[in-house]
Amino acid sequence: MKKTVVIGLLGSTLDNTGKGKRRWERWRPTIGLCQHEDLLVHRFELLYQKQFTPLLKRVCKDIKAVSPETEIVCHEISIDNPWDFEEVFAALHDFAMQYPFEQENEYLVHISTGTHVAQICLFLLTEARYFPANLIQTGPGRDRSSDVSGTYSIIDLDLSRYDRIASRFQQELQDGISFLKSGIETKNIAFNRLIEQIEKVAVRSVEPILLTGPTGAGKSLLAKKIYELKKAKRKITGELVEVNCATLRGENAMATLFGHTRGAFTGATHERPGLLRTADKGLLFLDEVGELGLDEQAMLLRAIEEKRFFPVGADQESFSEFQLICGSNRDLQKECARGNFRDDLLARINLWTFTMPGLAQRSEDIEPNLDYELAKFGTKTGTRVSMNKEARHRFLKFAISPDAIWAANFRDLTGAVTRMATLSPQGRISSLEVDEEIKGLLQKWQGKSHGKQEGILTKILKPDQLHQLDFFDRIQLAEVARICQASNSLSEAGRTLFNISRKKKKRVNDSDRLRKYLARFGLDWRSFHKVGKFG
Ligand SMILES: Nc1ncnc2c1ncn2[C@@H]1O[C@H](COP(=O)(O)OP(=O)(O)O)[C@@H](O)[C@H]1O
Ligand SMILES: [Mg+2]
Repeated sequence: MKKTVVIGLLGSTLDNTGKGKRRWERWRPTIGLCQHEDLLVHRFELLYQKQFTPLLKRVCKDIKAVSPETEIVCHEISIDNPWDFEEVFAALHDFAMQYPFEQENEYLVHISTGTHVAQICLFLLTEARYFPANLIQTGPGRDRSSDVSGTYSIIDLDLSRYDRIASRFQQELQDGISFLKSGIETKNIAFNRLIEQIEKVAVRSVEPILLTGPTGAGKSLLAKKIYELKKAKRKITGELVEVNCATLRGENAMATLFGHTRGAFTGATHERPGLLRTADKGLLFLDEVGELGLDEQAMLLRAIEEKRFFPVGADQESFSEFQLICGSNRDLQKECARGNFRDDLLARINLWTFTMPGLAQRSEDIEPNLDYELAKFGTKTGTRVSMNKEARHRFLKFAISPDAIWAANFRDLTGAVTRMATLSPQGRISSLEVDEEIKGLLQKWQGKSHGKQEGILTKILKPDQLHQLDFFDRIQLAEVARICQASNSLSEAGRTLFNISRKKKKRVNDSDRLRKYLARFGLDWRSFHKVGKFG
């Protein structure tokens, strides 16, 4: 027969209401649990600490009085300090490990007695299925004096109520991720993964974060969102202090960042706290950190590590505990190699480095972002903006083509939508506005191209020639051009390029093959050597 077995701790306070008759007038959790008519406890596994043995005897006697059917099995557990989490957890864990649970019984773990620590441990052990049981929570009745048996409820951690709590956590996580993405659903797997990681780091870590990527990829926007997320999750209480380090050149840089005393230099009529101090308990966002001077970098490193620094002119240190996000569109590793950036500072700020992809690397996200921009423009101007079907198709086709390099990324997209929406009659964008915009964008991007490597093509081909080329040809030709440039002769370049197939030829004809390939694009050896070297 299925038996109901309760596992509970003897409560040294609530179960202990004295020896006299009046003890029956108050709610006692352990005894009350055995007094419910609709809950028959077949067995009570009662855990107790040695020093409460007299109380244990009394409680056992009283349980017998109210529920003669209940078998009571007492287990002494040794806990010296009931407020020591590790000790309590270990004692309860040991009990659970040696206890012979029987499949056919229903086990209930009583969580209303013992210290808070014991209750938390019982919950954790049950949740982790060390106790294959449900929880039973008891409480005093509404009218304490007449209802001494109190109330009880059984909590099944496997059931949906618990799932609902769990799904609330999941929902909060999703909200955080969606918040970082500004509510724009993206389909790009890499970008989604990036944002999921950033969400975790933003919520769990106080270490510096480095955001890299091309201009307009959304570094500054993301830094602000990270701040807001940290603030919403109460990981931060202070302000967001933002500065673009490119504006901090020269003498004022130190004073702006670290503050200065009155009279520290000519014109310092007042003391100023500086940005680091203002960011105390908050978040400092140093955009374009690669632009910071070497002296400022040294001070910054110390401020990060020791949370102290000297304001200009001060002989007393200032203190600030700030979190840090740095933004950079430069390759800081390279800047270190060139001696423009301190290795030790880079090592300190790049524990978490996230590289934002450019818009051209997120082509599947252009469509949702187009809709987002259209809606944003509409809200800002109080109008309704839309695109007709043909216009939308034309724009998107262009937007994901290799011609669209989106050099300034989101800034270009925002600009394009703003222009088209402003110029279209009644906010309805047609193919006319789209074609104009495409022309404008192509003009704007002339001379720039996908990567540095492809940049070479803009110097050896005319723009209209370039736009006729397949992406395939572009990348191949760009690499061929790079090799031609690095070689001293056509035959040397040929040897490098046809390194495998040349071995199978009876007669060496590398130069000839290369010459013919180049001729297809109207190029020859001189095309590469009249222009300078490309980086
Ligand atoms: N994910 C995004 N979706 C839409 N617009 C964006 C997104 N990220 C940034 N933007 C917009 O693009 C512009 C440039 O973003 P910003 O964060 O300043 O780029 P960065 O700091 O990388 O140069 C801003 O106007 C910003 O509002
Ligand atoms: Mg920026």
